[in-house]
Amino acid sequence: MKFQTKASLSLLGLLCLLAATTTGCGGNTTATASATPSPPAETGIPYQKFADAVHAVMMADRTVYASKVVTRLKKQDAPVTPSEYWEDEEHTIPLPAQMFRMGSELVFENPEAGFTYALKSKWPLNEQNRPKSDFEIQALDYLVEHPDENFYGEEELGGEKYFVAAYADKAVAEACWSCHNDHGNREDNYPEFVKDDVMGGVIVRVPMQ
Ligand code: HEC
Repeated sequence: MKFQTKASLSLLGLLCLLAATTTGCGGNTTATASATPSPPAETGIPYQKFADAVHAVMMADRTVYASKVVTRLKKQDAPVTPSEYWEDEEHTIPLPAQMFRMGSELVFENPEAGFTYALKSKWPLNEQNRPKSDFEIQALDYLVEHPDENFYGEEELGGEKYFVAAYADKAVAEACWSCHNDHGNREDNYPEFVKDDVMGGVIVRVPMQ
């Protein structure tokens, strides 16, 4: 099951309202001649496009950090290594997933950001990353079944309505499954991840006006 956002529809309605003097929106065709051109109609981006765009940026950053920083340090036998326990150990830097979570925490604290995001899994190494709402649980189940699709929908939390998008996070490199499969935090029902498995998902949540 895949939900469609109503955002683009209502946005079109809004554009039509704002641009009521121009042509094109359901027969409102009174073109007015005026010496001063009217300001351009306020434009907006549909929720799904916005979520897809911020997801593209966060995944690009994560990939660059993993492949250009973490892997490079390892290849060079650098005296600095990525470690989950970077806060307590000398000469260490955070893992990509930790970088990702710390970034998402900063965005969460920023009232200007206009959205929140998180990397979650049905099988979390960090309990904090377990899906919490019914929507998140449903979204992660869907992604595991349909690895090549995204999952979109609307959710109400604390009286607020949100557009929510979920994107599969796959085992793209050997390091992913070898670290996760051997990790001390794995629970009894933990899968033996192999290449291309969906290990979790990125959830992007945008408040709807
Ligand atoms: C060196 C070990 C290591 C490697 C390599 C690694 N991870 Fe993780 N991953 C972790 C740890 C530790 C966490 C928990 C981080 C936190 O505190 O939020 C985590 C978190 C996650 C989560 C969130 C759910 C959870 O388990 O808490 C997903 C999904 C995930 N990793 C997928 C991946 C993918 C995909 C790759 C490869 C691109 C990868 N990981 C590489 C150790 C690793």
